[in-house]
Amino acid sequence: MTTQPAVQISGVHKRFSGRTRRSPARVALDGFDLTVRPGEFLCLLGPSGCGKSTLLNMLAGFSLPDEGSVLVDGEPVTGPGPDRGVLFQTPMLFPWLTTRDNVLYGPRARHRLDAQARERADALLASVGLADSADAFPHQLSGGMRHRAAFARVLVNRPRLLLMDEPFGALDAISRVAMQRFLLELWERDRITIVFVTHDVEEAALLGDRVCVMTGSPGRTRALIDIDLPRPRRLQDTETLEFVRLKRRIREALEAEAA
Ligand SMILES: Nc1ncnc2c1ncn2[C@@H]1O[C@H](COP(=O)(O)OP(=O)(O)OP(=O)(O)O)[C@@H](O)[C@H]1O
Ligand SMILES: [Mg+2]
Repeated sequence: MTTQPAVQISGVHKRFSGRTRRSPARVALDGFDLTVRPGEFLCLLGPSGCGKSTLLNMLAGFSLPDEGSVLVDGEPVTGPGPDRGVLFQTPMLFPWLTTRDNVLYGPRARHRLDAQARERADALLASVGLADSADAFPHQLSGGMRHRAAFARVLVNRPRLLLMDEPFGALDAISRVAMQRFLLELWERDRITIVFVTHDVEEAALLGDRVCVMTGSPGRTRALIDIDLPRPRRLQDTETLEFVRLKRRIREALEAEAA
C-alpha cells in the first residue's frame, strides 16, 4: 500500500513580473518537484533568491503557481487555511492582544472559541514556558518569548503541516538552541509534517529527516540528502563523526551550486 504524500509539488513554475513594463520578469521557480512524506521533517536549503520563500508561500496558499501543481494531503492548495501553520523569522503577533488572546485568535476567528480551545491554549502556553506571561502584551515579551508565543498561536489550530521560513534566523545563539530543542521535542511527540527553510547547514542536519538543497535562481532540486541519524536527536549529536560527514555533504552540494 502506498501512503499519500503530505506534500506533492510537481512541475511548479513561478514568475514575477517586473515592477515597470521595462524591467524584466523574474523566474523564481522553474519545473520544481518535491514530495514530502506524512510526518517527515524536511529542510530546504539554497542560495539567497532561489525561491524557498516563494515555495513556502505557495504551500501556505498566499500565492498560486503559474504552472504545475501544489498538493497538500492530495488536495490542491487554493488559499490559506488553519491546517497549515506558518512561522516566519519575525513572529506574527497582534500587539494589542495579550499572549493568551493572540493564541486564541485562530479559534476565535473560526468561531471555535470553546472551553476546549481555551484549555488547549493554556496547555500550549505552559508547554512553551509562557504560563506566567499569558496576560502580557507582545512588547512585554523577549524575542525568544515572542517566538514561542507565535508557535503556540499556530499550534492551537492543530495544523497538519508546519511551514517555517528561517524561523530562528534572527535569534541569539542561546534562544536558537532552546527553540531547536523545543521544536525537536514537539515533532518527536506529534510528528507533524514540517517544511523548514534555513541557511544553517548544522540546523538542517540536526533537525531534518531529509535536506533538499536547491539550485540558484530559478530554483530546482540540486540534491536530496537523507539524514539517517538516530532519533530522538540531541544537540550533543552534532559532535559525532557521522554528523560532521553529513554536514560536509550538504555543504558540498551548496558550494557546488555557488561555484
Ligand atoms: N513578490 C515578488 N515580486 C517580484 N519578485 C519576487 C517576489 N517574491 C519573490 N520574488 C523574486 O523571486 C525570486 C525568489 O525569491 P524568494 O524570496 O523565494 O527567495 P528565497 O530563496 O526565499 O531567498 P532568501 O534566502 O534570500 O530568503 C527572487 O529573485 C525574488 O526577487
Ligand atoms: Mg526567503
